[in-house]
Amino acid sequence: MQPFSSQPGPIGVFDSGYGGLTILSKIREALPHYDYIYLGDNARTPYGTRSFEIVYEFTRQAVHKLFGMGCQLVILACNTASAKALRSIQQHDLPQWDPARRVLGVIRPTVEGIGAVTHTRHVGVLATAGTIRSESYPMEIHKLYPDIIVCGQACPMWVPLVENNEAGSPGADYFVQKYIGELLQHDPRIDTVILGCTHYPLLLPKINRFMPDGITVVAQGEWVADSLKDYLQRHPEMDERCTRGGSCTYLTTEAEEKFADSASVFLNQDIGVQRVCLD
Ligand code: DGL
Repeated sequence: MQPFSSQPGPIGVFDSGYGGLTILSKIREALPHYDYIYLGDNARTPYGTRSFEIVYEFTRQAVHKLFGMGCQLVILACNTASAKALRSIQQHDLPQWDPARRVLGVIRPTVEGIGAVTHTRHVGVLATAGTIRSESYPMEIHKLYPDIIVCGQACPMWVPLVENNEAGSPGADYFVQKYIGELLQHDPRIDTVILGCTHYPLLLPKINRFMPDGITVVAQGEWVADSLKDYLQRHPEMDERCTRGGSCTYLTTEAEEKFADSASVFLNQDIGVQRVCLD
């Protein structure tokens, strides 16, 4: 295996598809001066229904690609990858590849602030089936707030609705209402709901419409961005290894035009895209 370059590089942001663009936007708002590479594994999305082994292998390949392109720091801007692959990459792969590099996920930063938001101490999590099955949210919440009761609800139709640009359509109403209803039927005392999937902020107008009054909906982008800002302040050695030019390069494993078209819905702007292969 070729050694990775030790030169400073862009910050890598990885998602199974487009969802991580909601995180990237918030990160770039908070930290506009850094360079970024966004990689979407659109050819193999969704990850939410895949096994642990497959999500780990795909995520590992993506992180390896981003390291090979000069990133010293990679954010897994995908809850499913954070839930199923982060720990294995940190423990098994990083020590072999380059112990100085870092891979960070989105679950820990999302749960850190939750203790100050919930009053009933009953929290709901809406996420992919894979993230819910992994139990990562209850585990991370209980490390910080053992008294909080966590109830998870898988929303398998939400990612396809967003990926197919149907988030605003009347047909999406049924599935938004359905999963919110099932969550609250399970635990009517919930006063805080985490959107534990990076695609879901695109459904926020509908989620807010169908969520009963008095329930706070937490979208994770800003919390992840704040946490990264704090991380770079606390780790000047990593901060120095991240280049600053304000650029963003977009990579996809699918056709460039398809990514560029769909990404414009997330970003509200036209972008240039390159296709890459992961293996
Ligand atoms: N964006 C991913 C997440 O945050 C889910 C999309 C998928 O299923 O691939 O979990």
